[in-house]
Amino acid sequence: MADKRRFELFAALIAERFPAAHRVFDVAGGMGKLNLALTKLGREVTTFDLRHKRAPTVRYAERRFTLEEPCAADLVVGMHPDGATRIIIEYAAKHRIPFAVVPCCSDNGMPYNPWMRHLAELGRDRGFGIEEARLAMEGRARVIVGVPRPG
Ligand SMILES: C[S@@+](CC[C@H](N)C(=O)[O-])C[C@H]1O[C@@H](n2cnc3c(N)ncnc32)[C@H](O)[C@@H]1O
Repeated sequence: MADKRRFELFAALIAERFPAAHRVFDVAGGMGKLNLALTKLGREVTTFDLRHKRAPTVRYAERRFTLEEPCAADLVVGMHPDGATRIIIEYAAKHRIPFAVVPCCSDNGMPYNPWMRHLAELGRDRGFGIEEARLAMEGRARVIVGVPRPG
């Protein structure tokens, strides 16, 4: 069972790292709880996922997030986004916006630590400065933060 504090903790990290990012795409956001936490912090958030059951007030795009999604965001994020993790990084690269992800499972059966290394490498290859942070919670708590390198 994932830690229930994960949304508030991740929202706080996002707000601290990206104070100027107003429009946020929350990819694979489940019921929209990260959306609620970020909205409380003054962000305009769109959650992409396929859940019918969700928080009633969130802006929700009920569809699979793909690289073809038009970009109306300053930042793209994902909490335990499963098969969407790599897409988040590739999407951020395509639009030269920063990203923050808290990866859990890989999309190809890769164990967690190699998966984390792979994602960090993917980010560097796509032109991001990569940092890692950790949320103060149980379970998959490592965050990969990517900021486009200038030039
Ligand atoms: C482990 S759940 C995490 C949900 C939520 N972020 C949380 O922490 O509770 C993974 C979610 O990823 C969603 N997902 C996977 N690939 C996706 C994609 N390409 N676009 C949108 N949602 C996706 C699934 O529908 C599922 O809700």
